[in-house]
Amino acid sequence: MEMMKEKKDPGSQADKKPISRRRFIAYVWIAAAAVVVGELIAGTFAFLWPRRKGGKIETVFIGGKVTDFKVGEVIPFRKERTFIVRTEGGFLAISSVCTHLHCIVNWNAVLKEFECPCHGAKFNQFGEVVAGPPPRPLDLYKLQIVAGNVVIDTVGGIERNKFDPSQLVKA
Ligand code: FES
Repeated sequence: MEMMKEKKDPGSQADKKPISRRRFIAYVWIAAAAVVVGELIAGTFAFLWPRRKGGKIETVFIGGKVTDFKVGEVIPFRKERTFIVRTEGGFLAISSVCTHLHCIVNWNAVLKEFECPCHGAKFNQFGEVVAGPPPRPLDLYKLQIVAGNVVIDTVGGIERNKFDPSQLVKA
């Protein structure tokens, strides 16, 4: 004779084990730790990527008076992600966004080169690639001299394959 098996309803109260207070607190701690670790990781790497468009970055800005810049100087404008470079031949407004994977480059005043912290790219003072994986020089921004001021428009970077002296804006 076949014995009748009692079927359990999977949703019945008998199957539900109440979660212990100790276990509940452990879950809360794990969740809180996950949030903290996530924030730390996001905060650590956030600087590597450029801010999205649509933020409150001014698109046109005055870098200063022409006389504020000495020949050979490279002045960073971090918020605008731009470097103003003054050479003997004139000015350049160079984007600080690496043309490889869009990390932000820094100017090394000792070695006189832009350096990308992500994959080791190096660019000369004109933004040309001298080492690393970027496919092209750093982009330029439109620069004009208006009433003795250096005015930069950062809407849309100007891509180029190489530096050419015609890119320099004379003061
Ligand atoms: S993002 Fe600059 S070298 Fe890769």
